[in-house]
Formats: sequence, structure tokens, C-alpha cells
Amino acid sequence: MSTKSKFQTPTGMHDVLPQDQFLYEKVIKVVEEIAQFYGFGKIETPTMEHAELYEKGTGATTDIVEKQMYTLRTRGGDVLALRPEFTPGIVRAYLQHGMLALPQPVKLYSYGPLFRYEHPQAGRFREFHQFDFEVFGEQSAAIDAQIIQLFYVILKELKFTHLIIEVNSIGDSQCRPYYKKLLANYLRPRQNSLCAECRRRLKQNPLRTLDCKEEKCQRIRAQAPQIIDHLCEECKNHFKSLLEFLDETDLPYHLDPYLVRGLDYYTKTVFEIFQERVLASEDNTESQTQGVPRNALVGGGRYDGLAKLLGGKEVPASGGAAGIERIVSLMKERNDALPSPPKARIFLAQLGDLPKKKSLKLLEEFRKANIPIAESLGRDSLRTQLGRADKLGVEYTLILGQKEVLENSIVIRDMSAGAQEIVKLDHVLEEVKKRLKKHDS
Ligand code: HAM
Repeated sequence: MSTKSKFQTPTGMHDVLPQDQFLYEKVIKVVEEIAQFYGFGKIETPTMEHAELYEKGTGATTDIVEKQMYTLRTRGGDVLALRPEFTPGIVRAYLQHGMLALPQPVKLYSYGPLFRYEHPQAGRFREFHQFDFEVFGEQSAAIDAQIIQLFYVILKELKFTHLIIEVNSIGDSQCRPYYKKLLANYLRPRQNSLCAECRRRLKQNPLRTLDCKEEKCQRIRAQAPQIIDHLCEECKNHFKSLLEFLDETDLPYHLDPYLVRGLDYYTKTVFEIFQERVLASEDNTESQTQGVPRNALVGGGRYDGLAKLLGGKEVPASGGAAGIERIVSLMKERNDALPSPPKARIFLAQLGDLPKKKSLKLLEEFRKANIPIAESLGRDSLRTQLGRADKLGVEYTLILGQKEVLENSIVIRDMSAGAQEIVKLDHVLEEVKKRLKKHDS
């Protein structure tokens, strides 16, 4: 239920309400477990960086830098940007903290909010969250495969099915310029049949025409030369080796010759992971997949040139990031069950001002002893409080009235037997523990 109050969340941004927190927490719990198992260290970088870091790193001709950055000038005159992605900030941190001197590979992961001034639509927000994994200092395609496997495993742990991994190689500075020329030569005579955006891309970065979603552009690209056929020897071997690793891990991957990704820093491997749309079949006995994939859940690849571009030494690197909102929304669609909160076994009923005051301290003693205890501190009537205790199905209710406080005592009511006993207030924890133990045995 939502109501139109004066202030609403800014366009493309949203609150995460208590009832949805558990899904976010579930995702992060799995991410942390997998990160720990695979030896990744957690890094937190600032939510803002110098805008130039992204202009250089993410790339001046990317949608992110051209249209989507939240940039501001500080009172001191610095031009900062809310981070639109993690990778350049993590590379900056790697260089700034001299991690090159550490034994390589250096494996880092992070999660948190990111900001892109997008056209909001399903699965596309202006503030969203990612978890991100990066590995520095390792050239082998084994690392690319491991990154892909890691994201796949996280999604499997979160009970995702019908996952598809799309992979491609987009070459490196040796072979890509030649391919770009080939592609541009193919597209130029056909540019009148391309969409306006692709005509623009043709001039700036013809590779980006390959992942255009417009049907007319897709028809043209179907006959275009494919980069896979024009990789240099090193990139070809790297890609072959990646596919061999993926075959060994039994991951369900497809080659997608049109996958180029929208960020400028990639070299060689690029990948995305999707969940295919699952439709119940007519007789509802089996689910089937429809060809159209949804938004990517994960995207990543190798970026061997980024550290140098940002002023450091040449450091081979590979990584990826997943969109938490997209993951959570699919978990919600399939109705992931709420974990049941620990059920209270005890209820504290209080009557009057003094008992209410004593209650806060008493509740804290139970928390420390790890005994779930419920209360209705806002209520005064014993009947209402006992009614609530009944509803919660607690085993014992503690009743603390004015008289009990003055006598340093408290009543313990056995809810199933209806019997009541008075014990010393100082001993109530021990007395409750004793009874619960008896109850359990
Ligand atoms: P990306 O493809 O821009 O890559 O984003 C990765 C994932 O973040 C997407 O697959 C999607 O799930 C999620 N995502 C992106 N934009 C939005 C949005 N506006 N709303 C909701 N979710 C979104 C990167 O960010 C690279 N830094 C990944 C990487 C890490 N490559 C190497 N290392």
C-alpha cells in the first residue's frame, strides 16, 4: 500500500522496507560465504570518487559517462561523482595502497549502492546495489572461468534455475582496432538502415552497435564480420583456454558473438549471466523456457589495461558484478519464504509505572541470556497482555506488578497448566531457564 504524501523517493530510487530486508540479507550472506571460501578480501571504497576516475576508467564514450553520472562540484572545487560502478574505484584502491607489492593474485570483493541516471524501467534504477568481485595480477583464463563460476554458484546457492552464461572475447589492443575498422567498413554503407543511436555509435565505437536491441540493427549485424574470427593469436588462445575451463566445470554457457558490454575497459573475455524467462506450460505440470532472456543478472570480464590507464603499472585483472535488485526481484517472484523469526518462549507482562521501568533492564537480561522474550510495553491491561501472550503461544508469562517490584519478586505463569508461582526477581532468569530446560527434556 502506498499513499501520496508530500515527499516521495526520487525517481528511480526506492526504500528497502523491513519485509524485504531478509532477501537482501540472504543474498549478502551467500556472497560473504562464497567470498570467504574462495579467499576474497572485502574492500569498501568511498561512494564518491573523482569524476575523472570514471571518465578515464569506465570510458568517455560509454553511456555511463556520457549520460548517467551524478557529478557535483564540492565547495572546495573538486569534481566528484557518485560511483556508477565499483571497478575503477577498486583499481584505484589497489594502486593507491601498493597492493602490487603483495603476493598476487589479490582478490577483492565489495557490495553497496551505485548510482546511474538511467531511464527507470523494470530492473533498471537510478540507485541500485551490486556485489562485485575482482582479481588482480593473474593472466590465466582460469581466473576468468573462476569468476564466472563464482557468480554462477552464488545464484545456484540462492536457488536460481534456468541460468544461461553468455561469453565472448572482444580481443585486445593488438586485434580489436583492426576488427573495429572491418566492422565500420561493413556498417558504413548500411548506416541509413541503422537506428540513430547506432549511427552515432558507428562514429565513436562501432563495437557497441553489436549489442543494439533494435530489430533493424540486429538484422544488419547478422551478416557483419565477427570478432571471434579476427582475434590475434594470444586472444584466440586465451578464449580457447577459457572455454576448456568452462567445459570442465560443466557450466551452462553459450557463445554470444554480439556480446560486447557497455564499458570501455574490457579486454579478451566478456560475460553475462541471465535467467531465462520461465513459463508454466499449459497443463501446468512442467515449466518451460521462452527464448527471450531478461535483464542480465551479472556482467563482467577481463580488463588487463585498466590499471595502466589509471596511472599504474600493467596489471592483468578480471572481475564481474551482479545487480542485487534484479536478483531479489526474481526471488520475490518465486515467493521465497520468509525465515521465521525466533519464536518467543516467554512473555513479560507489566502493570504500572514502576514495573514498566524495571522491564527494560529485565528484557535486556533475557537478551543477553539468548532467551527470546516478547512484551507489550505500550499496554497496561493484564488481560490484553495475557491475550497477546496466548496468541504468541509462549510457554511462560512473567507478571510484574507494583506489589512484586516492592517485594523484589515476580510471578511466573505456566501458560499450558495455568499455574502461577512467585519467585525472587533477582533469580527470575535462573528460574525461567530451569523451567525451559524441564520443558525441553
Ligand atoms: P554492469 O554490466 O554495468 O557491469 O553491471 C553489472 C550488473 O549490475 C548488471 O548485470 C545488472 O544486474 C546490475 N545493474 C546495472 N545497472 C543497473 C541499474 N541501473 N539498475 C539495476 N541494476 C543494474 C559493471 O558494473 C562492471 N563494473 C562489472 C565488472 C566488474 N566488470 C569487471 N569487474
